[in-house]
Amino acid sequence: MFNQYRNCVAVPILVAWMVLVSLCRFTAGSTTEAEALLRWKASLPDQPILQSWVTPAWNNSSNAQSPCGWHGIICDSAENVIEINLAYTGLKGTLDHLDFSSFTNLLRLDLKENQLEGSIPQNIGILSKLQYLDLSTNSLNGTLPLSLANLTHVFELDVSRNNITGVLDPRLFPDGTKQSKTGLISIKNFIIESTLLGGQIPNEIGNMRSLVLLALDSNSFYGPIPPSLVNCSELTLFSITQNHLSGPIPFNIDRLSKLTDLRLFINNLSGSVPQGIGNLLVLTTLHLAENNFTGQLPQQVCRGGKLVNFSAAHNSFTGPIPVSLRNCKSLQRVRLEHNQLTGYIDQDFGIYPNLTYMDLSYNKLQGQLSPNWGQSKKLSFLSVGANMIVGRIPDEILQLKQLGNLDLSSNQLSGEISTEIGNLSRLSMLHLNDNKFSGKIPAGIGLLSNLQTLDISINMLSGPIPYQIGDLSKLQSLTLCQNFLNGTIPSQIGNLFALQSLLDLSYNSLSGEIPTQLGKLTNLISLNLSHNYLSSSIPSSLCDMLSMSSINLSYNRLEGPIPEGKISQLGDFSNNKGLCGTIQGLQPCKTSFTAPGDKKKKHIHVIIIVASLGSAFLGSLMLVGIFAYLPKRKSRYNSKEEESTTNREDPFSVMYFNGKNLYEDILEATKNFDDMCCIGEGATAKVYKAEMSGGQVIAVKRLWSQVDDIGFAEGAKTFKNEIAALTEIRHRNIVKLHGFCSTGMHRFLVYDFMERGSLSDMLRNDEEAMELDWQKRVEIVQGVAQALSYLHHDCVPHILHRDISSKNVLICSDLEAHVSDFGTARFLELNGSNWTTFAGTFGYSAPELAYTMAVTEKCDVYSFGVLVVEVLMGKHPGDLISKIQTFSIESINVKDILDPRLPSPMSKNSVEELVLVMKLAVSCLQANPQYRPTMRSLSQLLEVEITRGKR
Ligand SMILES: *[C@@H]1O[C@H](CO)[C@@H](O)[C@H](O)[C@H]1NC(C)=O
Ligand SMILES: *[C@@H]1O[C@H](CO)[C@@H](O)[C@H](O)[C@H]1NC(C)=O
Ligand SMILES: *[C@@H]1O[C@H](CO)[C@@H](O)[C@H](O)[C@H]1NC(C)=O
Ligand SMILES: *[C@@H]1O[C@H](CO)[C@@H](O)[C@H](O)[C@H]1NC(C)=O
Ligand SMILES: *[C@@H]1O[C@H](CO)[C@@H](O)[C@H](O)[C@H]1NC(C)=O
Repeated sequence: MFNQYRNCVAVPILVAWMVLVSLCRFTAGSTTEAEALLRWKASLPDQPILQSWVTPAWNNSSNAQSPCGWHGIICDSAENVIEINLAYTGLKGTLDHLDFSSFTNLLRLDLKENQLEGSIPQNIGILSKLQYLDLSTNSLNGTLPLSLANLTHVFELDVSRNNITGVLDPRLFPDGTKQSKTGLISIKNFIIESTLLGGQIPNEIGNMRSLVLLALDSNSFYGPIPPSLVNCSELTLFSITQNHLSGPIPFNIDRLSKLTDLRLFINNLSGSVPQGIGNLLVLTTLHLAENNFTGQLPQQVCRGGKLVNFSAAHNSFTGPIPVSLRNCKSLQRVRLEHNQLTGYIDQDFGIYPNLTYMDLSYNKLQGQLSPNWGQSKKLSFLSVGANMIVGRIPDEILQLKQLGNLDLSSNQLSGEISTEIGNLSRLSMLHLNDNKFSGKIPAGIGLLSNLQTLDISINMLSGPIPYQIGDLSKLQSLTLCQNFLNGTIPSQIGNLFALQSLLDLSYNSLSGEIPTQLGKLTNLISLNLSHNYLSSSIPSSLCDMLSMSSINLSYNRLEGPIPEGKISQLGDFSNNKGLCGTIQGLQPCKTSFTAPGDKKKKHIHVIIIVASLGSAFLGSLMLVGIFAYLPKRKSRYNSKEEESTTNREDPFSVMYFNGKNLYEDILEATKNFDDMCCIGEGATAKVYKAEMSGGQVIAVKRLWSQVDDIGFAEGAKTFKNEIAALTEIRHRNIVKLHGFCSTGMHRFLVYDFMERGSLSDMLRNDEEAMELDWQKRVEIVQGVAQALSYLHHDCVPHILHRDISSKNVLICSDLEAHVSDFGTARFLELNGSNWTTFAGTFGYSAPELAYTMAVTEKCDVYSFGVLVVEVLMGKHPGDLISKIQTFSIESINVKDILDPRLPSPMSKNSVEELVLVMKLAVSCLQANPQYRPTMRSLSQLLEVEITRGKR
């Protein structure tokens, strides 16, 4: 009894004890269908849909148990289960415990659209009477069982939309093993590839002679279409879209003469498509799109006259449009775009009464648009873009009431655009750009009340923009650039409230003022009015365009001030008549403030960060970054400086008033950047110690300014990053930046000098390392944790350091840690991407950076982990990191790790502290970034635990 009970522990606790008892009894008896179902149920998570699957407790006779009334179970008259149908029930779990051998009469197994996991049991072939098997849309993985080959009565097999792979090619392992003395490496690679990526569809599938429908879409099958497939002569539908199949379509595919649907899109199939497809006389659907097919399209593809849906887009087909398409009246959807098809569009296509979708774009078609398209009354999508089509738009096309998308772009179409175009009342996309249309933009265009995208750019249109364009209330993008449009911009354009992505009227001959109504376009992101003859001043209403991220008003005749606000930073205002403002390259509007160093403004740009050095109190510190060449800001700065600066002795705040002096003082203090004063050197900079005349010692970090452009650009980037990050932050464990200078020759940053140099140098020097006793080292760890926590969580926007290492932790005379070198940091923008080229120091960078360039704060956490171990060991941990990652912390004796130069920690508290620090370091070193703690929690833990230890 005890043993039997143990077999049942998997039954959910909620199941009544009675059921449990009766279940236990079954395990001793013979396996019935009911038992098999209950055992399967017991292996599944509890789910309401199987509630009816219980045996009444009062029923003592196991023979009397019948599952026939249970949900989803259908029996024949002899009470044999012939169908299990739990499709669309949200069923969860695996098929592992469904004992197929109990269902000798099963005809249909339908479990589609559920959440089944795991693999299809290999012994499924035992269901010898099975006719219907649908496991589609689940999360099944593993291989397609070979035993399916025995299911010769199955007419429908659908395992689409799972994660199933094929089987490895058995020819590679003739002796059934995966080892082979010859070609071990290639086989090994094959195994790796196949197990990672998936294997082939077993050729045994050809044994399933009754198959009418075979669907394997959206799985992970590799390799060829199995040649044996042509033996499934009853097949009407074969679909294997969105896998990784390669090789050609079997040359004798036309043996599948009942085929109506052949769907092969999105694979890597190649070669030419067998012309024999024309022998498939009942074919209605042929999908070849997004493969790597070459050669001609099958010329007789519509020989049977039944073809409805034909796609061959995104391949490398060449040659003519299939002749049989001309009279293929059954066509509804045709997609041939992105090939290299040739032919004449007016001769190769005929009249298609049911056609709804026709895409011929990106081919090499010639000829004219035929009026016949007008007879496809249901046409909703017509694209012939990027071909070599000439002539006019036939009026017949402009009568297609269902047309939603018309793309005639990038051809040689000419003539006027008829005002009849207004008849296309369903039109949402109209692309006529890059043609030779002339005449005026017809007023009728204003009737296209559903239009969302209008592009008529790059034509030869002249005359004014019709004011009716303002009626296009759904328009999101309007592009009329590169025409000869003249007159003024109609103020009605301001009514296009839906306008969002683009308004481009550039390269025309528009004149007059920019209508103030444009300011109403608050959703617009990009505005280009450049290269026109627009005059007068820029309406200040443009500042109301809240979404604007790019504005180009260059090459006009505008004058007056540029409105203050966001647009002044986003815009290109160059080459106008008389614009003024605070933008580089423009005259200031009124002469107000002139800085003493103004003459030098082309040469010396100075940002100075004013700090009241006398006060360590954080709140009283104030950073103001100012570009000297921005007179407005400078004067604003002056008043602030007068209000707030109390400590006039600060040499740097004084120096601000004469940027030249600062520069020259530094040159003098560093003896013109003499190597004698150099105290460090990195990949992007040299660091000099400079004793200023007032006695203050500073560190000057001089960035390489190389002559070559690449070096310069990289240096400039580093420079800007550093400024941007540092001007925003103040923290006792972060090295303070005073300012920077940029001249034609030198670019340098001015920092507080850290007397003891870098942590790395201190640890390397035996004497100095001894100075850093255990308590000091824990404090250093704490300090760095606090600095990083501040950067990650308290700065807005958050700042990633990206290059934490012992070289970038500097130590002051009090042996306190200061995080330095934000050369590679930059702002973590909310929407911006954080993808970057590799930044960081080898030996400290997180493992995920090897395969992704996405830098997250968890990369800093990892580097911090390495740094902590280094602080404890007194040297870089090297290979120990991987050991730490694979073994648990318990298997590593912390005392073995500790720096042998220091005496072992004596007190219990001290040991516990170090163990805690080590544990935190280990948690930072986890391979999966998600599992690493945040800097905030690390810093808080250190704070709490260590302070508690001190009490
Ligand atoms: C199949 O899925 C299960 C759970 O969904 C998983 O544990 C198993 O590793 C997967 N097997 C393969 C070969 O991917
Ligand atoms: C398929 O497997 C991959 C990797 O094993 C997984 O990321 C993906 O979510 C799976 N897809 C489905 C539909 O289960
Ligand atoms: C098919 O059935 C036969 C006879 O029952 C059996 O010997 C064979 O192993 C089965 N084949 C597969 C692939 O399961
Ligand atoms: C397509 O085939 C050509 C040659 O037939 C080959 O060079 C190319 O790599 C293939 N492209 C893909 C995506 O498989
Ligand atoms: C067009 O579609 C209708 C309705 O589906 C169908 O009855 C008719 O046969 C089709 N016309 C052609 C030429 O295939």
